[in-house]
Amino acid sequence: MMPDLFSQTEEPRDEVMRLRRELEEANRLYYVENSPTLSDREFDIKMRRLQELETLYPELADASSPTQHVGSDLSDTGKNFKSITHRYPMLSLGNTYSQAEIDEWMSKLPAGAEIVAELKYDGLSISLWYEDWKLVHAVTRGDGIRGDDVLRNILTVKSIPHTVPDTLPRRFELRGEVLLPWESFERLNKEREAEEEPLFANPRNAASGTLKLLDDKEVERRGLTCFLYYMLGEELPGKTHFERMQTVRSWGFPVSDAIKLCKSAEEVTEFINYWDNARKSLPVATDGIVLKVNNLKMQEELGYTAKNPRWAIAYKFPAEKQHTLLKSITYQVGRTGVVTPVANLEPVQLSGTTVQRATLHNEDFVRQLEIAEGDEVWVEKGGEIIPKITGKLNSSGRAGEYRFPETCPVCGTRLVRAEGEAAWRCPNESGCPPQIQGRLLHFVSRKAMNIDGLGEELINLLYEKELVRTTADFYDLQAGRIAALEGLGDKSAAKIIKSIGNSKQVPWARVLFALGIRMVGETTAKKIARRFSSIDLLRAAGKDELTAVEDVGEQIADNIIAYLADPQNTANIERLRQAGVRMEGEKAAEPREDGALKGMSIVISGVFAHHSRDEYKAMIEEYGGKNTGSISGKTTFVLAGENMGPEKRKKAEQLGVRLVGEDEFLAMLND
Ligand code: IVH
Repeated sequence: MMPDLFSQTEEPRDEVMRLRRELEEANRLYYVENSPTLSDREFDIKMRRLQELETLYPELADASSPTQHVGSDLSDTGKNFKSITHRYPMLSLGNTYSQAEIDEWMSKLPAGAEIVAELKYDGLSISLWYEDWKLVHAVTRGDGIRGDDVLRNILTVKSIPHTVPDTLPRRFELRGEVLLPWESFERLNKEREAEEEPLFANPRNAASGTLKLLDDKEVERRGLTCFLYYMLGEELPGKTHFERMQTVRSWGFPVSDAIKLCKSAEEVTEFINYWDNARKSLPVATDGIVLKVNNLKMQEELGYTAKNPRWAIAYKFPAEKQHTLLKSITYQVGRTGVVTPVANLEPVQLSGTTVQRATLHNEDFVRQLEIAEGDEVWVEKGGEIIPKITGKLNSSGRAGEYRFPETCPVCGTRLVRAEGEAAWRCPNESGCPPQIQGRLLHFVSRKAMNIDGLGEELINLLYEKELVRTTADFYDLQAGRIAALEGLGDKSAAKIIKSIGNSKQVPWARVLFALGIRMVGETTAKKIARRFSSIDLLRAAGKDELTAVEDVGEQIADNIIAYLADPQNTANIERLRQAGVRMEGEKAAEPREDGALKGMSIVISGVFAHHSRDEYKAMIEEYGGKNTGSISGKTTFVLAGENMGPEKRKKAEQLGVRLVGEDEFLAMLND
């Protein structure tokens, strides 16, 4: 049984707002962070519920609702890759999960419509622009309207021609899916594991992360592939989709052989049943099939909704599923004190791997599943490689007795749960061993201070021997004390000391990340460090200035303020600074005394064509202005780009705050 995701008591407005928030966040994690938390199925269930509510309560409809736009992979607003407006919007497909839903879709098509069935490849979509017989742009879906031009990286995909014969049409566009084959994905994750870097959840996320890399040599090394599944343009040959795909293949492009022209619903079903099993031996990931109306004229007549074509639909394969015994539930305490329940399972085979542990996320998750030790539970592996418990088969009848521990399983402190949060947390930040050890480990990790030779075991040993209790203690370590530890010697001790010394050169942004402030990840730390060039400036910043930094919301701002207000943290930071750790960055441009924006308080909103948001923020500061996150009576003006949020627009109108466009703004600076 699926857990009940919907509350019985919530007001419709609150539920709509909550679903929009959750879906936007899920979109961001999927498309931008490449680390999904919801399965496609869970995402779709929430999306359908939101659609249902918006239909039932039309007064709650909103043009910016996730039901009205496709998720966006635009991450850098034109910074690393130029953003390009699609010639034809890049939409997504409506999803179905059952034969009945397919039948319903087919019943709405004109009589006698032929259907082309294809595999749904699970990578990310790309649009290839050929002009004058040359590949000139390769654009990601982005937000469906604009995408990033990742041509440089696409040129590393061996099966994609860079030029074509001049007997072909002068201008055409091919759309397809960029994929990282299973084998390359597994190799990449092995390397990442060895480097202590976070693993990609699935080949789709790995492909997406790869395509956004700046180093095309690394992209080439990882080995992306591609399948093309649609051609667009004016006056192109062929009257049907099937014909066109044969033509595109004959031109030398990678078009999958798994394509079938179906004349009846039975033939469609046959295709689905065959590939549901056969796909398991393909070298790339697939997550369903796509059905398209064959006749192009008919496609045109059927047209589009805001998000999807009416002439095509996706059918998602059910996730692979197994049942097994839930032997016990144990609890893990993380670096930030979050206590996570973990299911220990009787080992079971699932999609080629043995599963024996699965996260249960939090108390609510366990309660919704109504599971307890001794139950026979279902384990699934969907688009996520990480297995999940999705329900129970047989009950031991003990679910009612389930109690989340009241105290920390390690240090015994009474756990707390903040309002609105799902997690129970051990508040004993400075005394709970796994939290301290987790922070120490995070501090030395490669993307933070990059101190070699200090793995989990050694950190725990240094902690137990009371040689290191806070991060500043690393800088007081003496080679002799390390060398005396079991399994170590002079040589490794010297290496560690040298690496600790080298870490004093680590730039300010990474030091900030290394501090381990809750929710301040690598990218956020970079953005904060760019805006606040030293720990002292950061400490002096108010909440409004903090939330003006891209990615920093109220919650993160509160975490930063609380962290820097804590006397133990302050003392530790002082000791780090004394030891020579960098608490400031390269000098940013000094604000101009007579800057054109002197004394102005400016809010940035929307997407820009000439510069990135970060560049505009730097300009505002350079010209003496102040960046703020939210519009208030004190706001001088809003620097407004395209697609400015409707909420912000309304607020500006209400308060009579002027909107200044990009060009006008640049003119202000030049005057
Ligand atoms: S057709 C206008 N065909 O699935 C519709 N899409 O969920 C164009 N996909 O964005 C899409 N295999 O990234 C089409 N054979 C296939 C596909 C396919 C994978 C992806 C594509 C699309 C997404 C929709």
